Amino acid sequence: MSTDPYNGRMDAAGTHKYEQVASEIARLIDSGTFRPGDAIPSVRELSRQHGVSIATVVQAYYLLEAQGLIEARDRSGFYVRTARPSALPEPDISAPRSDPTGVSVRDVVAEVSLADTRHPNLVQLGAAHPNTSLGAPTALTRIQASVARRMGHRIGMYDYVPGCEPLRVQIAQRALSSGCRLSPDDVIITTGCTESINLCLRAVCRPGDTVAIESPTGFDALLSLDVLGLQALEIPTHPRDGISLDALRFALDHHRVSACLVVTNYNNPLGSCMPDDHKRDLVDLLAARDIPLIENDIFGEIHFQDRRPNVAKAYDRKGLVMLCSSFSKSLCPGFRVGWVVPGRFMPAIRWLKYTTSLASPTLSEYAIAEFVASGSYDPYIRRIRRTYERYVGALSDAVRRFFPPECRLTRPGGGFLLWVQLPERIDSLDLYRRALSAGIAITPGYLFSPTNQYRNFIRLNAANWSDETLPALRTLAALIGQ
Ligand SMILES: Cc1ncc(COP(=O)(O)O)c(C=O)c1O
Repeated sequence: MSTDPYNGRMDAAGTHKYEQVASEIARLIDSGTFRPGDAIPSVRELSRQHGVSIATVVQAYYLLEAQGLIEARDRSGFYVRTARPSALPEPDISAPRSDPTGVSVRDVVAEVSLADTRHPNLVQLGAAHPNTSLGAPTALTRIQASVARRMGHRIGMYDYVPGCEPLRVQIAQRALSSGCRLSPDDVIITTGCTESINLCLRAVCRPGDTVAIESPTGFDALLSLDVLGLQALEIPTHPRDGISLDALRFALDHHRVSACLVVTNYNNPLGSCMPDDHKRDLVDLLAARDIPLIENDIFGEIHFQDRRPNVAKAYDRKGLVMLCSSFSKSLCPGFRVGWVVPGRFMPAIRWLKYTTSLASPTLSEYAIAEFVASGSYDPYIRRIRRTYERYVGALSDAVRRFFPPECRLTRPGGGFLLWVQLPERIDSLDLYRRALSAGIAITPGYLFSPTNQYRNFIRLNAANWSDETLPALRTLAALIGQ
C-alpha cells in the first residue's frame, strides 16, 4: 500500500514529520553516533521512541536511503552506508547539427505526453508537473470562493486584454527581484506561458522563418515551432550555464534568424541557468542585429540558492526582449494563468491575444492576484524551493546508486527536473514503453530535439517524490540493465 508523504503533519517551517525524523537520524550519522556499517534502530523501535507511526518511520528511512545515507539489508534492517555514492559526471555541452531544420514532434508528443499524463496510477517521473499536493490548489480554491462572492456577477465577465489589473500590479512588483523595473501597463495576462510564447512567435515570425533555440529544449517550444511552420536552429547548450553565446554568434553570422527562444533560468530539461552577465551579453548580441529574444522564465522563482537569478529582460534597452512566464510551476498549471511583457511588440501581442482568446479566465486571475497580494505567495514559494531541492537531491542520489556507472547526470540549481544521459545502447523511446508497462512514466529524450539528438537521454521529474519513487527507480535501473 502506498502512503502519501505530503499529507503527514508539518511543523511551522512546513517540514513533514517523516522529514523531521529523517533529519534527526541524518544528524546522528553526521555526528558519528552511528558510523558506517552500524545498524540503526529498527522501524518499530524508532516509532516507539519518537511516538510516531510505523508509516512515518518507513517514509523517513526511504528518504535516508534515497539520500544514500543508509541501506536496507535483506531481513536484517537498515544500516549506515559504508560509502556514499560517487557523483556521476555531467553531460557534455550539446553538439547539435548546425543547420535550420523543420520540426515534426507531434507524433512522439502525442504518444508520450498526452497519453501518460492522463493515467492516474503511474509513478510519475515524466511530465514536468509541479507537486500540486503541496497546498496551492487548496489555498487558491478557498480564495476563489471568497473572490466570487465579493465580485458577484462581474466574475462571470470577460476581463479583456491586457487582463486583471491587480494581478499585473503584483507581477510588476515581483519583477523587481529579477532585475526588472516594470509598470503594470507593460504586462499582458495570458492563458499560461504556452500562450505567451505562441503569441510572441506569431508576432515576429512568418512560416518558414528560423528560430534559434537551446539544444535540448522543451517540447512545448518545439510543438509551437511545428504548428507555426517555423524552422529550428539548435544551438549548443551547457548543462549548467545554458546556451553557448559563441555558438549562437557563429550561427547568427551564417543564418538568417527571426527570433531567439531561450529558457534563461533552469531550462527544461537541463536545469541550466545562464549567469546574469551571460544574459546581458545575450541581449547585447541580439540587439546589435535587431533580433527579438523570447525569454521563458517559467522556472525562475524555483531557485535553490538565496538570490533569485535575474531575467535577460533586465538588460533590455531596445524593447526587443519579450518576457514570458506563468504560475504553472510555482503554483499550479490548472489555473492557466501566465503573462507576457512584450516590450516594443506590445501592440502586436495585444491584438494577437485579443483575436486568439479575448481574455483569460477571470476567476483564476483574481484568485492568484489576491493570493500574491495577501503575502501568502512568498512563504509558499520558500517552502516549495526547499522541498524541490530535497527531492532533486534524493532523486540524484538514487540515480547515482541504481543506474549504470557510465550514465551522466545534470546538477540543477533550481527547478525540479533531471536530465540523464544513458549508455549509448539504450533507446529512450523503447525504455519509455517498457517503463510504462511497469507502471512508471518517464520522458524520453526524443521530445527535446527536432533532429533526434537525445536518443539515449531521459528526463526525470523529482517534484512528485513519494514512497513509490525509489522502487520505481530500481525497476527503471533493471530495465536499463536488461
Ligand atoms: C519550459 C516550459 N515552458 C512552458 C511550459 C508550459 O507552461 P504553461 O502551463 O504556463 O502553459 C512548460 C510546461 O511544462 C515548460 O516546461
